[in-house]
Amino acid sequence: MTTHKKLIAGNWKMNGGIAANDALVRAVVAGLQDTACTVAVCVPAPYLAQVQMLRHGSPLELGAQDVSSHEQGAFTGEVSAAMLKDFGVRYAIVGHSERRQYHGETDQLVADKARAALAHGITPIVCVGETLAEREAGHTEEVVKRQLAAAIHTNGHCISEIVVAYEPVWAIGTGRTATPEQAQQVHAVLRAQLRAATEHAERVVILYGGSMNAANAASLLAQPDIDGGLIGGASLKAADFLQIIAAAR
Ligand code: 13P
Repeated sequence: MTTHKKLIAGNWKMNGGIAANDALVRAVVAGLQDTACTVAVCVPAPYLAQVQMLRHGSPLELGAQDVSSHEQGAFTGEVSAAMLKDFGVRYAIVGHSERRQYHGETDQLVADKARAALAHGITPIVCVGETLAEREAGHTEEVVKRQLAAAIHTNGHCISEIVVAYEPVWAIGTGRTATPEQAQQVHAVLRAQLRAATEHAERVVILYGGSMNAANAASLLAQPDIDGGLIGGASLKAADFLQIIAAAR
């Protein structure tokens, strides 16, 4: 059994605007009374300051969607972990499949980003997941283990401080969710890999992501190695997001 609170993290992706964020965060904060789990929203970098103000005094945690692997300097367009820390960021997604796919991020770069976040006290949410072609070819385990191995190798004994998110690429934004059994099977593989790397593997939060919604959240979250969710589309609607949070008790 794992030994921590569940984590529900919203990934807004490249969505939002000043007025929409204001309404969404106020509604989420208002609905967070007596929440048993940890809740975070990972917002586009320009809105970190706005959401930090809106969440002030509430249990809502703030997350970023990416972080530079570099400390500082001539890296135009990048945002460092120290900068995120200045805005109260607790989590940073690294290696989301959209960044691996559209921005050419490699397993090693993702591992280096995780290291940069950890060095500044930010918890990286390290995303892994196979494409549909990889699943159909029977390569799911091999792919996710390779992706997680890079993070383990680079981060050594700090590995128990990361969050892992299993996001099958074929389930992201498609409405096609992994079944609870399919997800649990992969989560168990990841847990076993973590056990081989650290004695604190039970403490590592492993999220599921990919078309998670109010209707399917409870059955996914009931699996022994599913410790929470990374929610895309459904995190943009306060009522849906709050229903998922309520399912994470
Ligand atoms: P959806 O919930 O929209 O499928 O997105 C999942 C995701 O990519 C979260 O990071």
